[in-house]
Amino acid sequence: METTPVLDSSPEFDPRALRDAFGQFASGITVVSLLDGDGRPTGVTVSSFSSLSLEPALCLFSLGKSQMSCKWIDSGNGFNINILSAEQEASAWQFAKPLEDKFDGVEWYAGRNALPVLKGSLCHFECAKWNVYDGGDHIIVVGQITHFERGDGDPLLFYRGKMATVAE
Ligand SMILES: Cc1cc2nc3c(=O)[nH]c(=O)nc-3n(C[C@H](O)[C@H](O)[C@H](O)COP(=O)(O)O)c2cc1C
Repeated sequence: METTPVLDSSPEFDPRALRDAFGQFASGITVVSLLDGDGRPTGVTVSSFSSLSLEPALCLFSLGKSQMSCKWIDSGNGFNINILSAEQEASAWQFAKPLEDKFDGVEWYAGRNALPVLKGSLCHFECAKWNVYDGGDHIIVVGQITHFERGDGDPLLFYRGKMATVAE
């Protein structure tokens, strides 16, 4: 499918104001987990996850081009997407920091695709890399789900730059 740009040049917005406006959209929080160039488990906190297609089974997220994880998405064939539960706020902050060992103190196991899965996640999707598209200062990563497991519990939420849980 061909797309035609709506505008020749992008209007200039205050990036902070645009970011705050984007933040009005409440989302869940995921950790995308994968292996680094040395085969060590690593991961990144991502709220841009979205379901995409049922047949084939696809989902997507976007990643800033300056993130280290872009390199590992590029060099690897897949990744896992862990939907965080209300009890995993500490992990959400940990995977959002540029740490040498992102998995320090985090319990995990190897999924069927041999990539790391965070223990205690509400759900995890094991994905093969389907395609990567340009998205301005981000890349859009589409994964084909090869296996998933669903747990139970309340999700961790992200809204206006803060983490929250569901209030009944
Ligand atoms: C709640 C939350 C959601 C985030 N969502 C995204 C996202 O969707 N895409 C992204 O590129 N960075 C996102 N980030 C920022 C990254 O987690 C952060 O920049 C991280 O340090 C990148 O790690 P890396 O450089 O090892 O890849 C988010 C951070 C937080 C706290």
